[in-house]
Amino acid sequence: MTTLIKNGTVITSTGADGADVLIDGEQIVAVLQPGSDVAVAAEAGAERVIDAAGVYVIPGGVDGHTHMELPFGGTNASDDFENGTRAAAWGGTTTIVDFAVQKEGEAVRDCLETWFAKAEGNCAIDYGFHQIIGGVDDQSLKDMDALVDEGITSFKLFMAYPGVFYSDDGKILRAMQQAAGNGGLIMMHAENGIAIDVLAEQAVERGETAPVNHGRVRRAEFESEATHRAIQLAKVGACPLYIVHLSASEALEQVMIARDRGANVFAETCPQYLYLNLEDHMGRPGFEGAGYVCSTPLRTKHAHHHEDLWQGLRTNDLSVVATDHCPFCMKDQKELGLDDFRAIPNGIGGVEHRMDLLYQGVVNGEISLPRWVELCSTTPARMFGLYPRKGTIQAGADADIVLYDPNHTWTISVNNHHMTMDYSAYEGTEINGHVHTVISRGRTIIENGTYTGSAGHGQYQRRGLSQYLI
Ligand code: URP
Ligand code: ZN
Ligand code: ZN
Repeated sequence: MTTLIKNGTVITSTGADGADVLIDGEQIVAVLQPGSDVAVAAEAGAERVIDAAGVYVIPGGVDGHTHMELPFGGTNASDDFENGTRAAAWGGTTTIVDFAVQKEGEAVRDCLETWFAKAEGNCAIDYGFHQIIGGVDDQSLKDMDALVDEGITSFKLFMAYPGVFYSDDGKILRAMQQAAGNGGLIMMHAENGIAIDVLAEQAVERGETAPVNHGRVRRAEFESEATHRAIQLAKVGACPLYIVHLSASEALEQVMIARDRGANVFAETCPQYLYLNLEDHMGRPGFEGAGYVCSTPLRTKHAHHHEDLWQGLRTNDLSVVATDHCPFCMKDQKELGLDDFRAIPNGIGGVEHRMDLLYQGVVNGEISLPRWVELCSTTPARMFGLYPRKGTIQAGADADIVLYDPNHTWTISVNNHHMTMDYSAYEGTEINGHVHTVISRGRTIIENGTYTGSAGHGQYQRRGLSQYLI
């Protein structure tokens, strides 16, 4: 099947241009000058022509940080791969990289197989895996080498969550040395979990059990200190480092200092850290704030975190926007922490809204159109070894394409989202712009407000090494 997308403005990380895009089967075969002889001939021969006049034609989103069905705090993230990837498709994301989970005492290989089984045959869009290494030992270090050879080329470690995913500095250093040898990318949850647990226990002893205390005890200093420590360990371990879900200005400062000194350090932030805050969201009355409990936490509005993060997105000290999609319902899930914020499962669902929320940065003059595409598609594809198959519009790339209508205004609500959540963290947020059509490997999966895809269309993506290795 050949399809020509004509009359659109094609946005890539390098610019915006009027161009026609020719798709044959699952791939883009040409990007053509509109009205040129070859474009006219392509239209005459195409089995389908999509008129993209007035809309942006962008590469499908690549969300490099999701947690479908993550077991956390005695429950599981509420989106499975079927619902979660369908919701992602609605929001213009055509590839996710999810985290397979291994904990101390578990075999990495078995854990990874569990993740393959959860995803296989269920995904609406393409997917790959990072591997969480929660138990660093001789065997799991060896397993990292094998995984890199098999296309799982990035590993998340935790300086937070003692007793669950936490690794001490020695274990982190060993994993970094292993990654230096095998070309893997170390992804770090950078918060000082040992110190956080002390403050959390003291808060509960004082009777401060409400959700907002989650944010109060997870101090920005603890994120900054851990980010600094991770950077120093990576320098000694001689491996590249990618800081996940960065939320505090102070942590960003550590990344900026390291990058200015030439370190191969990267950082990601998420929409929740650009739009939500501790007081107005986590501090909502009653138990409502539990819907905003995530780690790293939302930061205080009485500082400049949002402004600094937007600046970091412009200067490339923050190179990726992912969602850290980890949804839980209020009922029966977040409610596990009704009496004690420490028992609230950590996470916010947002896989459906990343492209739209970041596009508001274009509308508000924070970032340019090409930077929007770079942050949401191109750099994550490069970072995680998916480029140029994913993350761009060029001949030879997969035909993962979103038609984005900049003139459509709508409002986010639990009543119109597709994630498995009984609330929306962005309820009432007005969005300028809208995902109009989504094409995944040549197949239209969202069209005219209808989902036309199917579970099982999404294929596993064996990833190469990060393009940012030096
Ligand atoms: O609150 C969060 N971020 N939950 C998911 C687990 C993680 O640390 O990424
Ligand atoms: Zn994390
Ligand atoms: Zn996460």
